[in-house]
Amino acid sequence: MEMNDKYIFPDPSKHPDWITPHSPEWYSKLNSSVGAYRYPWNSTFEMPNAEMMFAEHLSSRITPDSRVLDVGCGHGDFTSIWGYKAKEVIGIDNRENFIKRAEINNNHESTKYLVVNADDELPFPDHYFDIVYTKKGPWLYKEASRILKQSGIILGLYHGGTDGGLRDLFPGLFSPLPYDPYNLDAVEERYKLYQSVGLSQVRIRLLEEVEYLSAPEDVLIKKCFGQSEELKDFVWSQCLKGVKEIFYKHATEKGIRVINYHHLITAKVG
Ligand SMILES: C[S@@+](CC[C@H](N)C(=O)[O-])C[C@H]1O[C@@H](n2cnc3c(N)ncnc32)[C@H](O)[C@@H]1O
Repeated sequence: MEMNDKYIFPDPSKHPDWITPHSPEWYSKLNSSVGAYRYPWNSTFEMPNAEMMFAEHLSSRITPDSRVLDVGCGHGDFTSIWGYKAKEVIGIDNRENFIKRAEINNNHESTKYLVVNADDELPFPDHYFDIVYTKKGPWLYKEASRILKQSGIILGLYHGGTDGGLRDLFPGLFSPLPYDPYNLDAVEERYKLYQSVGLSQVRIRLLEEVEYLSAPEDVLIKKCFGQSEELKDFVWSQCLKGVKEIFYKHATEKGIRVINYHHLITAKVG
């Protein structure tokens, strides 16, 4: 069959084995199977990518006197980069395996990792941290203003979805983005930032990250991140042939170009 613009792939999220990404069940599966939060597909990025931009924002604020909290730190790769720069760094995550992995890799005395549910009351004194951040983890709606110093700042980096043509190229496999990433009011609504207690000067910035998915299989690996082997078998058997055809028609020499929309959120106490 010749692939054309009207071909619709079967939607993997309609399959009975589909696990909603970022749901508790999805995190449990990643936690028990991989023990880390790491993207499994091959790709390259135009630099600086969103993570580097976020790191630059943090780095410019962290001094040798800073106490830093990483909320939803996963297996701690990103948290660990502040160990040499700050007085104290704490990473929290509610998934034990992620924290175990972070502890094994930890080689900074100033850094520690704790299994903590960020939705609960946090085990930290009032006005303790200079910087609280989350990279794609939970936003602290209630506790941020209590645990931050008066001069403190909270930052969040969120992945607001991938597009830049990907969704039109593979309809069915990907559905249209459910919101407009350029509409920052919609972003505020999406993350319910108005529920943040005791925070002011909430600012949102859009960061557009350019990524090249290296091979047709990477399109499917991205779609099936965190899914079961059964689901992956289904998607491969139904979609690989069509994805290959479209991929090779549209790929640059680095692969299929996509845009990851990220939102950088900053807020202060007050
Ligand atoms: C998208 S991952 C990001 C991990 C890491 N910050 C990174 O960027 O690689 C989100 C992380 O938040 C953690 N998480 C989700 N809900 C949480 C909660 N209520 N309390 C603590 N951690 C949570 C997950 O276990 C996961 O490690």
